[in-house]
Amino acid sequence: MSSKFKNFLISDAVIESITSSGAGVARTNHGAVVFIKNCIPGDIVDLEVFKKKKNKLHGKILKFKFLSKDRVTPKCEHFGICGGCKWQNMNYNAQLHHKDIEIKQIFKKIGNIQIKKYLPIVECKEHYGFRNKMEFSFSSTKWLTEKEISSKKKIKNRDAIGFHISGMWDKVVDIKYCHLQKDVSNEIRNEIKKYCIDNNYVFFNHRKKEGFLRTLTFRTSSLGEMMLIFHFYYYDKQKIEMLLGFIKTRFKKISSILYVINNKENDSIYNLDIFTYHGKYYIKEKIGGLYFKISPKSFFQTNLYQTNVLYNKSLEMLEIKKNDIVYDLYCGLGTISQYIAQYCKKVVGIEIIDEAIQLAIESSKMNGLKNIYFEKDDINNISKLDLLRKYGKPNVIILDPPRQGLTKKIIKVLLEIKSEKILYISCNPSTQARDLEILSCEYEVTLSQAIDMFPQTSHVENIVLLTNK
Ligand SMILES: C[S@@+](CC[C@H](N)C(=O)[O-])C[C@H]1O[C@@H](n2cnc3c(N)ncnc32)[C@H](O)[C@@H]1O
Repeated sequence: MSSKFKNFLISDAVIESITSSGAGVARTNHGAVVFIKNCIPGDIVDLEVFKKKKNKLHGKILKFKFLSKDRVTPKCEHFGICGGCKWQNMNYNAQLHHKDIEIKQIFKKIGNIQIKKYLPIVECKEHYGFRNKMEFSFSSTKWLTEKEISSKKKIKNRDAIGFHISGMWDKVVDIKYCHLQKDVSNEIRNEIKKYCIDNNYVFFNHRKKEGFLRTLTFRTSSLGEMMLIFHFYYYDKQKIEMLLGFIKTRFKKISSILYVINNKENDSIYNLDIFTYHGKYYIKEKIGGLYFKISPKSFFQTNLYQTNVLYNKSLEMLEIKKNDIVYDLYCGLGTISQYIAQYCKKVVGIEIIDEAIQLAIESSKMNGLKNIYFEKDDINNISKLDLLRKYGKPNVIILDPPRQGLTKKIIKVLLEIKSEKILYISCNPSTQARDLEILSCEYEVTLSQAIDMFPQTSHVENIVLLTNK
């Protein structure tokens, strides 16, 4: 292709696959890839390739010739604008199919890894209303819909609570109804918005970095508990007490109302003090007969229904034995640690967030588990010798790092320890594949099991079992 780009047409282009951002993928006659918005695999379209950016071709649909059998009408009125749920126009079975294909391609392309066996992806029975954590942004400059723009009516108030538009940190869509969490969070959020507008609270302006109301986090549990965390940009005692007092009186079912003052550049609250206005600092959750306390700074799997499935599958793949010593690295609240501890000799959980470790210790006592040890530490600082001296050589290591995956430092420790098995759980198969490639010098990658924790999106959780060669 010449470097000077000229628009061109493609007739009867078949959409072969779909990207994580929901764009369809077709090919030119020469095999070059073209990305096209608003179509899904199986569609056949006439299109115009109108842009080449960073060597990628972008097309727009001129005419649909055939609509994919996998098309469905998106449930959400915000589909197409909101940054979440980008696969909502594709039926659920097709979503699973494309996640499955994607994982296999990633392992081949990034890690060049030969996996002995891929188990079929495990579906999530609930396609909506499955999330137990949602984070909404306040904005004083809501994104205007095409309808609002074309109506030419002057919009006096542009306050919003919602989600960012994909890739746009300063643009927020006002969400009227989100289908990812149970109904009640919509009702509460909409009432909070009304109260704040009626009482002249200032919503955050992301560009100017000003305004009082910044973010609102909901956390719920299957035991019916609910936590709200308000992130304010600055402290205003009267405004905080008025708003939180209103919520406490109006919504009796909210068990914890917390707040934090965050005037930093970024939204992270890990290094800030969080204050309890009402109720407890945590909500309780039960998985597989065990109880856990979830606090604002601690990680907890976000799918209400699949967490149990993820942990059961992990247990099944590991074939844990009575005498096994298990290290659970990146253990969060020690959920997997406690699941496994019921079936083995000893579990050691390591996690960087102090609050999570404190609650892991508390819940393991509450659950009557005596063969479990938790340590607050940065995984990147652990040394093989210290660990082995303290806890003994592990037969099994469980890894569940954040999206960035493992660092070279921890991979080096894993290669030195040479445990019999490693179970690597990841929500980002790309970094998982990269890490597996390095680990595969000592370990054979025997099993791969994808679990759908994130319906309506391209995201997927993947568990891989490695055995020492
Ligand atoms: C994906 S979560 C997994 C938590 C847990 N396995 C679960 O299923 O709930 C990753 C965890 O790693 C922790 N983490 C991130 N970086 C870390 C580090 N350098 N050292 C130790 N823990 C870390 C996070 O705080 C988080 O709790």
